[in-house]
Amino acid sequence: MSSICVVGTQWGDEGKGKIVDYLAEQADVVARYQGGANAGHTVVAKGKTFKLHLLPSGILYPGCTCIIGNDVVLDPVVLLEELAALKAEGLDASGLRISNRAHVVLPYHKLFDKLEERMKGNSKVGTTGRGIGPCYADAANRIGIRVVSWMDREAFAQELQTALAYKNRIITQVFGEQPLDFQTIYDEYCGYADQLRPYVCDTCALIHEELAADKKILFEGAQAAMLDLSHGTYPFVTSSHPTAGAVCVGLGLGPKQIGKVIGVVKAYATRVGEGPFPTEQLNAIGEQIRETAHEYGATTGRPRRCGWFDSCVVRYATMLNGLDCIALTRLDILDQFPEIQICTGYKYQGKLLNEFPASLKVLGEVEAVYETLPGWMAPTSDIKEYDQLPANCRRYVERIGELAGARVGIVSVGPERDRTIVREKMF
Ligand code: IMP
Repeated sequence: MSSICVVGTQWGDEGKGKIVDYLAEQADVVARYQGGANAGHTVVAKGKTFKLHLLPSGILYPGCTCIIGNDVVLDPVVLLEELAALKAEGLDASGLRISNRAHVVLPYHKLFDKLEERMKGNSKVGTTGRGIGPCYADAANRIGIRVVSWMDREAFAQELQTALAYKNRIITQVFGEQPLDFQTIYDEYCGYADQLRPYVCDTCALIHEELAADKKILFEGAQAAMLDLSHGTYPFVTSSHPTAGAVCVGLGLGPKQIGKVIGVVKAYATRVGEGPFPTEQLNAIGEQIRETAHEYGATTGRPRRCGWFDSCVVRYATMLNGLDCIALTRLDILDQFPEIQICTGYKYQGKLLNEFPASLKVLGEVEAVYETLPGWMAPTSDIKEYDQLPANCRRYVERIGELAGARVGIVSVGPERDRTIVREKMF
């Protein structure tokens, strides 16, 4: 079966967009199964940088069908902006398909995201402010509005009335803010619906047709294992499931229809938002990583917190996702470090932990145990064959695979498509 799932293994921003873009060249279909405009994929193609939030990375390949699945929360404002940016570059988005079962992000979701963060004060999650959590909460609370209703003016009017009456009571009585106006939202979002209607279909039926026709399908995850609502560093997580299991529910497939799972692993670690980060380097090393790698959020522009590679995190992600192999990204960022540290384990109260801690208190207090490897102090970006990488560099790669518990099948040494060393056939 020709289907591959690409997932993030750390706290997001591992370079999934680049790996998906690279694999998309061989794919017939790229399907996103969760998340929303909180994601930020930077893809470099034909010398141009594209920042994608909602569109699957395959959109840059003409002829590729790009699916926004049922468990993606769809922000029409962002999607229309992205479509306009593609059009301005002369790119065609006719392969886009939007699930009629996806939930729509509405203005009150973004407002609630901000108001709830403000109310949490020091306990805030540090969300992207894109309304993701409130939209998923409405879906679970059964007051969300799905694309299928939004496309039908009558159903949309009725559902928006009901939802807004409820939301406005909270906005005014709990938060003391001004209520939102029904007609303004209704008119604006009917306009967006008209523009996006041609792309809407039953994507579950579509994907099954493609599978039956033995098409090559890529399942594109957004965010990453540590941000998974069930398995991540709760509550500092996103409100969906970035792990591979979510492909099934998020697109309407059975578990046996996922052929291979590739975990994207960054050669060091970063995190945006709040929450514990055991290998964080609040020093010149963290600064060097951030500046060399331009580690600033693609969605919010926030500086990312930077640190050494943490094998406890990636080993945990290997387990959660059943990884077949690893795509190791941004290896070139470490070209100028004389020594590189790898976290091999966590110590808590003097004892080595065997499991990834569920308690944030424990995770916040663990001591990262490091192993030091010699750096390679040589540029790697122009290298095309694995064997040509400096010996110390290969040693680092191999050690990551060993500690993570999955072989390293792809090594990325730069943002461009051709700076990708592939060690085994993927499709
Ligand atoms: P939300 O997804 O906007 O609700 O944010 C929840 C947490 O997930 C915050 O810590 C965000 O910074 C983080 N987050 C959400 N999307 C991404 C992403 O694409 N990359 C990295 N972090 C993310």
